[in-house]
Amino acid sequence: MAYESMWETGGAVAAADLRPDIPHPARRYDYYLGGKDNFPADRAAAEKALAANPEFRSTARANRGFLTRAVRCVADRGVDQFLDIGTGIPTAGNTHEIAQTADPAARVVYVDNDPIVLSHARALMAGSGSGRTTVIHADLREPDALLDSVRAADLLDLTRPVGLVLAAVLHFLRDEDEPYRAVTTLLDALPSGSHLVLSHGTADFIPAEIRDRVTGVYDQATAPLVGRTRAQVHAFFDGLDLLDPGVVTVPLWRPDDTPAPGADRVSMYGAVARKP
Ligand SMILES: C[S@@+](CC[C@H](N)C(=O)[O-])C[C@H]1O[C@@H](n2cnc3c(N)ncnc32)[C@H](O)[C@@H]1O
Repeated sequence: MAYESMWETGGAVAAADLRPDIPHPARRYDYYLGGKDNFPADRAAAEKALAANPEFRSTARANRGFLTRAVRCVADRGVDQFLDIGTGIPTAGNTHEIAQTADPAARVVYVDNDPIVLSHARALMAGSGSGRTTVIHADLREPDALLDSVRAADLLDLTRPVGLVLAAVLHFLRDEDEPYRAVTTLLDALPSGSHLVLSHGTADFIPAEIRDRVTGVYDQATAPLVGRTRAQVHAFFDGLDLLDPGVVTVPLWRPDDTPAPGADRVSMYGAVARKP
């Protein structure tokens, strides 16, 4: 559904678009985080994935903690507008809430390709600050069209630094979807001083047998799950200035508290970088 038509329908999305019979990443992730916005097919797929790898739930929570700390860091560095692609279903600590804590006037454009996320647009908009927030339906696999939609929304000033947030979304792009080209295309459209917040699932710490079972579950869903190695995740930051501590497992990125044992083997890498 296009941005305009979403507004014509007042933010409502036709039930037929939701495809409750097919497990969706946003709804499965919502289930891992303890949310209520998921259907039986999502819960069944999530339970299968959890049976294969019980760490999915703690990894989702660790990723959410990373997102909070990373957006806070970028906002503290003076960035007051964010483009958050692969938004997910609203839960506690959404990007606009974090950014608007640092600067109540901060603006956020959310982008997702899942209609159920759009159906939550109004909830997302209810920020506490004076900053504006909007939600766009677009696909990261088509970055040029995505940028056109962002420009059409006319909320972000792309001549000023933007915080580009790609949290736990790039692992839904297969190599043939050209994930590196997508990131480069987006960064090329943003000025110096922009920041990239990125987290990405990895199978680096998962035994091959579990990996195959998890991949099987996700292959039946609308989006595959492509774990990438630390070096492959690092490559998304080529040409950028990585902030300390670089690419690490998400609980180890500037933790607020002492990380729990095993934090260095959580199956999600994260990092933040500045565009020079
Ligand atoms: C695991 S959730 C991550 C949510 C949030 N970014 C976070 O880190 O907590 C992944 C989100 O990416 C969205 N997504 C998956 N593939 C996408 C694509 N090709 N384009 C846009 N969004 C996509 C899903 O619909 C889902 O909402």
